[in-house]
Amino acid sequence: MTTSSKTATLSFDGKTIELPMFTPTAGPDVIDIRKLYGQAGVFTYDPGFTSTASCDSTITYIDGDEGILLHRGYPIDQLASKSHFLEVCYLLLYGELPSSAELEDFETRVTRHTMIHEQMHNFFRGFRRDAHPMATMVGVVGAMSAFYHDSLDVNDPWQREVASIRLIAKMPTIAAMAYKYSIGQPFVYPRNDLDYAANFLHMCFSVPAETYHVNPIVSRAMDRILTLHADHEQNASTSTVRLASSSGANPFACIAAGIACLWGPAHGGANQACLEMLREIGSVDRIPEFIERAKDKNDPFRLMGFGHRVYKNTDPRAKVLKQSADEVLELLGVHDNPLLQVAKELEHVALNDPYFIEKKLFPNVDFYSGIILEAMGFPTSMFTPIFALSRTVGWVSQWKEMIGDPQMKIGRPRQLYMGETTRDYVDIENR
Ligand code: SDX
Repeated sequence: MTTSSKTATLSFDGKTIELPMFTPTAGPDVIDIRKLYGQAGVFTYDPGFTSTASCDSTITYIDGDEGILLHRGYPIDQLASKSHFLEVCYLLLYGELPSSAELEDFETRVTRHTMIHEQMHNFFRGFRRDAHPMATMVGVVGAMSAFYHDSLDVNDPWQREVASIRLIAKMPTIAAMAYKYSIGQPFVYPRNDLDYAANFLHMCFSVPAETYHVNPIVSRAMDRILTLHADHEQNASTSTVRLASSSGANPFACIAAGIACLWGPAHGGANQACLEMLREIGSVDRIPEFIERAKDKNDPFRLMGFGHRVYKNTDPRAKVLKQSADEVLELLGVHDNPLLQVAKELEHVALNDPYFIEKKLFPNVDFYSGIILEAMGFPTSMFTPIFALSRTVGWVSQWKEMIGDPQMKIGRPRQLYMGETTRDYVDIENR
């Protein structure tokens, strides 16, 4: 934590208190209100945490106005074009880009943890075949607590490291198994001779009846999607993981909580909802109808894949994904994908509509990711599981940072109580 360089003065009800302020290495100054209630007997009020810094962190920085996303200081567009997912995982976890030897050791450790305990296969068979893969992932990841007893103690740095590697390594295997189970195909074991993205594609699309060859272009695009979704500051699911972890719960239970939160259509579920919206729009000539619905306060419809709590000009990840969408569809020979045509026209219309300009709504990371994933052959139900397997490294990195902080305390917000004040019980015969 930086030292306080200045103070903020708060005056009300004839009282004046000085609150310390901290200046970050990037972004807005913060006012330290930790002693506010003790000094002044008042709470702050910030549902949705739009103006609240919940922690200090050195992992990811976002500038919503400038459209900047840095991981340990490195811009996301440079990482997407020059790095690869497991190297970005190393960077997020340990804070620096690895040397060749460090990267090789890390990749070997992850590769050798990709299988799950054989008895965990039984969990999948307890679900209906038509269960959403996110339901399966929440259940199976939480159940890892019942199998990996040697990496549950969050106070043991070695166990934290093993749990981190297990989660990053096994999430693709679990996601692929959820997919295979949903389509009635046999599980495919991971292969140690494939890289992370290629292995995931292999586990999803390989069948025992024939040899599966991973398309290197598709594998590169998948690796880029994973890189672009890896971490994103204190978003809803990461904040869920931090709050769950603050009670000392084991890492598998906390990551399962993050998966549950990510599932929501306002968050990680937006990529599935966006594709379903594009399919409902169906053709370019129906776009005006949906734009009007999105602007209608009486209509709950929102343009899925548009808008962001932090980015108010452009989501830098969407820019990279838009390029990938064109490349992948071109290389897959999906030249005239009607959904992509609708997406591009919808983006153009929305970005020139006064309502969207005024509300600062533009395509976010979820707008183009679904189009690429569909072109790869994934059903929409697998879009959020892929987001979850990518974001696992972000959740784990933020968890490690928090658990390793000696100042860590259990998260326990207060409230603005607007309910009944004390009143006496009334016997039922008198009601
Ligand atoms: C992710 O936090 C992260 O970093 C998340 C994420 C990550 O990497 O972890 O980036 C991933 O979740 C991206 C966002 C995916 N969600 C969607 O695409 C769903 C559609 N978007 C909206 O639900 C919304 O934009 C949010 C939830 C993303 C942001 O909502 P905010 O910041 O709470 O803003 P808001 O809901 O208060 O909206 C502000 C105004 C409102 O109008 P007014 O009440 O002020 O008149 O803009 C309108 C909203 O009605 N609005 C939209 C809109 N999004 C906001 N109107 C139409 N379509 C939309 N998509």
